[in-house]
Amino acid sequence: MTDPYGIVWPLLRQLDPETAHRRALQALHMSEGVPGQLGLHILEKAFAVRDPRLAVNAFGLRFPNPVGLAAGLDKDAHAPGAFAAMGCGFVEIGTVTPLPQPGNPRPRMFRLIEDAGIINRLGFPGVGVERVRARLWKWRDGLPGGAILGINIGKNASTPLDGATADYVAVFDAIYDLAGYVAINVSSPNTQGLRTLQARDALTTIAGAVIARRDLARHVSGRRIPVLVKISPDLDEASLAGVIEACRDTGVDGLIATNTTTDRAGLASQHRGETGGLSGAPLSDRSRAILDWLVREAGSSLPIVSVGGIMTAEDARQRLDAGATLVQVYTGMVYAGPALPGAICRALLGQ
Ligand SMILES: Cc1cc2nc3c(=O)[nH]c(=O)nc-3n(C[C@H](O)[C@H](O)[C@H](O)COP(=O)(O)O)c2cc1C
Repeated sequence: MTDPYGIVWPLLRQLDPETAHRRALQALHMSEGVPGQLGLHILEKAFAVRDPRLAVNAFGLRFPNPVGLAAGLDKDAHAPGAFAAMGCGFVEIGTVTPLPQPGNPRPRMFRLIEDAGIINRLGFPGVGVERVRARLWKWRDGLPGGAILGINIGKNASTPLDGATADYVAVFDAIYDLAGYVAINVSSPNTQGLRTLQARDALTTIAGAVIARRDLARHVSGRRIPVLVKISPDLDEASLAGVIEACRDTGVDGLIATNTTTDRAGLASQHRGETGGLSGAPLSDRSRAILDWLVREAGSSLPIVSVGGIMTAEDARQRLDAGATLVQVYTGMVYAGPALPGAICRALLGQ
């Protein structure tokens, strides 16, 4: 059967990227609402690959397969159930901030077609944690296929950097009971100063505070919620070493590597000069190099979720072979379409 995305993608490409993104999310959201879960069943039949051999145990959780949706595609939790039905082993929503905020002025998202990349400077537009919580409530008993729900948390743009810890704690407190895991995002290039929070002392303060709340929450929920930290691909080795120390000192459960890059080497596309974070194929080598470094330096104690430029099943397999515990995709879903998680799963099964 031909991949229907081969027909949909040329149409989506006619729209500006943010409109295309919104329409796709609306369609997926509507699929969640079809009576009798018919919409979810159709997605399941069309895309999901279910096989117990794909399951991964990590951070005390059972992931039905190692392929997740990266943060930012479904920031406000419009359609986590649909992504799970499509066969994602985990769905990371967010970045969620304490209060609603508009993000940066448009245009703020650009396709780099010739490079198979995206540049975005969205700046965490979102509805804020209370509305996200209300949307997630319907999934409180779990996502389709046993997919794990990750919640990626951040700070509001208007919060000064020295008040950032309170923002992370506020979002954590508001949603921990609905989260499979929580990811602390200190690596988006589009919120001023955010990436400075990756420095050892700053990260120790933030991760320490969130983990203290996690340990308190354990008494309430009876569950220990794994806390991960998402890092930038633009860190040098000394900074990466600082991240590892902060994670070890505070008891962080794992790393998500990486977010988007501000590097622009080797791009051909018209929009290559836009400010923002670059994702997709041009990020692949850098994310892979960071994975290799982390596996070598900390792989035995800190499980790593590899993300950045995974565009094909072969890319994903290589990251897992290199020592990643799990992988995530975003830009690959835009260029290859929703069949990508299933294609990765089939490749992992040798089919
Ligand atoms: C449009 C867009 C928005 C994003 N928003 C977020 C975000 O809110 N929080 C976050 O942690 N990462 C965000 N990311 C980064 C992705 O989660 C991912 O780390 C990055 O894009 C690299 O993966 P990829 O090459 O598969 O896209 C965003 C990426 C894109 C393209």
